[in-house]
Amino acid sequence: MADLLTKIAYQTMQQGKGLLGLVHKETSTRLMTLVAPEGSPKTKPVSAELFRQIKAAMDRLQQIDWEEAERGLYPTSLLFDAPWLDWAARYPLVWLDTPRSWNRRVERNVRDLPRDIDPQAYPEYYLQNFHHQSDGYLSDTSASLYDLQVEILFNGNADPMRRRVLAPLLQGLSGFGERPATQLRVLDVAAGTGRTLRQLRGALPQAQLVGLDLSHAYLRQANRWLSQLPGELPQLVQGNAEAMPFADASMQGVTCVFLLHELPAEARQNVINECYRLLEPGGVLVLADSVQLADSPQFELVLDNFRKAFHEPYYADYIRDDIELRLQQAGFASISGATHFMSRVWQARKPR
Ligand SMILES: C[S@@+](CC[C@H](N)C(=O)[O-])C[C@H]1O[C@@H](n2cnc3c(N)ncnc32)[C@H](O)[C@@H]1O
Repeated sequence: MADLLTKIAYQTMQQGKGLLGLVHKETSTRLMTLVAPEGSPKTKPVSAELFRQIKAAMDRLQQIDWEEAERGLYPTSLLFDAPWLDWAARYPLVWLDTPRSWNRRVERNVRDLPRDIDPQAYPEYYLQNFHHQSDGYLSDTSASLYDLQVEILFNGNADPMRRRVLAPLLQGLSGFGERPATQLRVLDVAAGTGRTLRQLRGALPQAQLVGLDLSHAYLRQANRWLSQLPGELPQLVQGNAEAMPFADASMQGVTCVFLLHELPAEARQNVINECYRLLEPGGVLVLADSVQLADSPQFELVLDNFRKAFHEPYYADYIRDDIELRLQQAGFASISGATHFMSRVWQARKPR
């Protein structure tokens, strides 16, 4: 009975988040289009049939999210883990920022970044306003709004998609047999504000967790979020995922969520090669990113709309990229993939 009530509470929360996300996007786009119509993205309308397919994929995601929690892969409390009060307090700031990002869209200004940053410290492809986000990834304000903005973008399904790395990761780590969990080291590449690390800590409370990201500001935010709850604080490291400051074979598991689509093709391969280098033989890599045309051709219009509405300079290339081939080229074996709502998850093993 308690399980049934928890499931209903989870489903109701997800429906509510979905509705809030839709209402926000619709209202802000309409309002901004009234003020400055030249900025409105040239997206195509979604048909009722396509909408039904999106909804069905979303329902399947939530079902699997519930089932894996029920199977004990992670605590059900993780399903409800959201900083509601913080988000409520920050929500007006999302609105206050909207005219600024719309203005950049109108002006096609995608290099509007804080003046105090050192451009030499970052790869050129990184110095942009991804998603028309104010300050790109390079300020505390951007970091403080990011989670809420992603929640709105995915209609409340960002964490359920991130949690899809947990089952393949746990399965891959089981290859280390009797090794105590305290001796397993798992790295989250492009950890951002730490949402995936939070999911990893729920599923692997005893493992040594490490998060790497290029953004100092996002790591500061990750530190704040991760410190709020009990549990070991993951080690947070600033660095480029193309050349990570970790020793060869020093990790048993690596995850990387929502990074690949923001990289040019060459950097994408470099990151995958790096993940291979620092995995111990037998170790597992789990990648999660946007669905692609090959696995989700029915969503082509949605993917195209996404690219048009948000500044995503490498997305068109990413959705046509062969990630399995890249994994093979890096040396990985036992490669498989699965699709969950708008995300594709790949699992691969470094041969022993
Ligand atoms: C879309 S966010 C995803 C963040 C997080 N994984 C999540 O699920 O919310 C992309 C992240 O990748 C980071 N990033 C982009 N290029 C990077 C690189 N070359 N090396 C390390 N981090 C990078 C950004 O700073 C940002 O935090």
